[in-house]
Amino acid sequence: MSTEGTSRVLTTHKLLEMKERGEKIAMLTAYDYTSAKIVDAAGIDIILVGDSAANVMAGHETTLPITLDQMIYHAQSVMRAVKNPLVVVDLPFGTYQGNSKEALHSAVRIMKESEADAVKLEGGVEIMESIQRILSAGIPIMGHLGLTPQSIHKFGTYAVRAREKAEAEKLVADAHALEDAGCFALVLEKIPALLAKQITEELRIPVIGIGAGRYCDGQVLVMHDMLGLNNKFSPRFLRRYANLYDCYLNAFKNYVSDVKSCDFPNESEQY
Ligand code: KIV
Repeated sequence: MSTEGTSRVLTTHKLLEMKERGEKIAMLTAYDYTSAKIVDAAGIDIILVGDSAANVMAGHETTLPITLDQMIYHAQSVMRAVKNPLVVVDLPFGTYQGNSKEALHSAVRIMKESEADAVKLEGGVEIMESIQRILSAGIPIMGHLGLTPQSIHKFGTYAVRAREKAEAEKLVADAHALEDAGCFALVLEKIPALLAKQITEELRIPVIGIGAGRYCDGQVLVMHDMLGLNNKFSPRFLRRYANLYDCYLNAFKNYVSDVKSCDFPNESEQY
């Protein structure tokens, strides 16, 4: 038996060290084997198997419909691909809120069936019992505060959160509670940059932002958004690193045209 611990190159402990020495953390979503392999080759620190798969892979309007079995399927596909990054998997809506035993069961299924490194849960003190029970089983947790898409029906909008004092104060208190409970990192989504700065400075654990400004310890984006695969989604926080929508469209159009015109396949493309 190996005594070296996890074979993963990036560990939760190394993330803490990165924060301590001021090295920024790069995190990206991935949901399938082929993309995850490329993401790993690019040197990403953390892969998030996000429940945003419900949107970008399955076409749902919200993240709520994705199931635990579907998240495990995505996580297994990613785990077969990667060697270096820490792989974090979202616990989907309805598998951890309000019942800490079910929360532990869900987290254990993800860890056992996918062999991922950690889970992510949305929410603060209201899900503390679930967080504590999962942590007590030795499963690392990444928290997620601010805009928490699984609560979209409560918020009613995807607008920036915690602009008002009372919500900002609750967010700061929740962030401390998650750190005190033992979460190894925290995602802050769509909150004012100065609030994210305050939390990043106050916490010892790494804070990863999405739409939370430049002062966080790291950044996360949804792969399909940063690749420009969805040309209808362009929030202010999103930087596009490619325009794959046009790339795909042109490739598909050229293929259709080549088949219709009998240009494909040609002599050298047949047996
Ligand atoms: O599911 C997801 O992709 C996420 C990120 C937006 C942080 O939770």
